[in-house]
Amino acid sequence: HPHLLGISGLKNWEIAYIIDQAEHWVKLNRSGASKHDDRLRGLTIINAFFENSTRTLLSFEIAGKRLGADVVNMHAAQSSVKKGETLIDTAVTLNAMRADAIVIRHGSSGAVQLIADKVDCPVINAGDGTHEHPTQALLDALTIKRRKGPIDEQIVTICGDILHSRVARSNIFCLLNMGAQIRVAAPATLIPHGLEQLGVEVFTDFDAAIKGADVVMMLRLQNERMNGDFIPSPREYAFLYGLNEQRIKLAKDDVLIMHPGPINRGVEITSSLADHVTQSAIKEQVEMGVAVRMACLDILTRKARKVEGWA
Ligand code: CP
Repeated sequence: HPHLLGISGLKNWEIAYIIDQAEHWVKLNRSGASKHDDRLRGLTIINAFFENSTRTLLSFEIAGKRLGADVVNMHAAQSSVKKGETLIDTAVTLNAMRADAIVIRHGSSGAVQLIADKVDCPVINAGDGTHEHPTQALLDALTIKRRKGPIDEQIVTICGDILHSRVARSNIFCLLNMGAQIRVAAPATLIPHGLEQLGVEVFTDFDAAIKGADVVMMLRLQNERMNGDFIPSPREYAFLYGLNEQRIKLAKDDVLIMHPGPINRGVEITSSLADHVTQSAIKEQVEMGVAVRMACLDILTRKARKVEGWA
């Protein structure tokens, strides 16, 4: 079965195809009429979330329902995982219910791959540890393309907890693949090794990294993954790496402000910029998330539905 486990394994045309298909779903979702296209009628989709989520879980649920599928959500905190059931046994259990697609979020990098190896249906990675969050990168690329034009003409600055961020990893793979110029900015302790070899420009000085940027993508400090890493206090962090009215002036005049959410207001971004009417794309990113997830569910179930087309 085809899976979507990460961006790193995707070819350029595959990324472009998903984004192109998502444009169709943006139109349907904005049509004002029925937002339904029931091409997945009769299929069962299980969203198995072992970590908290608002945007990803709800947008996968809405995407599946708009496509006519029966969608069920498994929250690990209320499941038999709490009684000690293993990840593999949980996967085998979901598989026995004959799901037609399983969407998984898990705190461990590689856990989604492990489940994909055990089940008989497409698996979509909704975020695994610090590894990948592919649908986030795809919705971010769609947002940039719609607001700023061709991706290969953009300078994108990603600032924040790069080390622990699956969003940063997937975005770096996706945007590099599509030809963008990428800069990352973070305290030295939150920058992973090997980024320069990928072709990413690395900065510890945010002011230098933001100069002339077309897009600034801010990330949350992932305190749940810090493991005692040395980081500045929230006040120092906001001073050195927070996006504020003064700093944004260093970027291009028409800079697009992005954040995958959830936001820690006043830490990595001021409220006035997060809510900026023209420059902030944060709400649009959420909207694009539904469209991208509709595209992914449609594409990955085509084989099972015996529909022609990729996957
Ligand atoms: N951006 C993102 O993945 O948000 P959630 O954790 O709310 O799904």
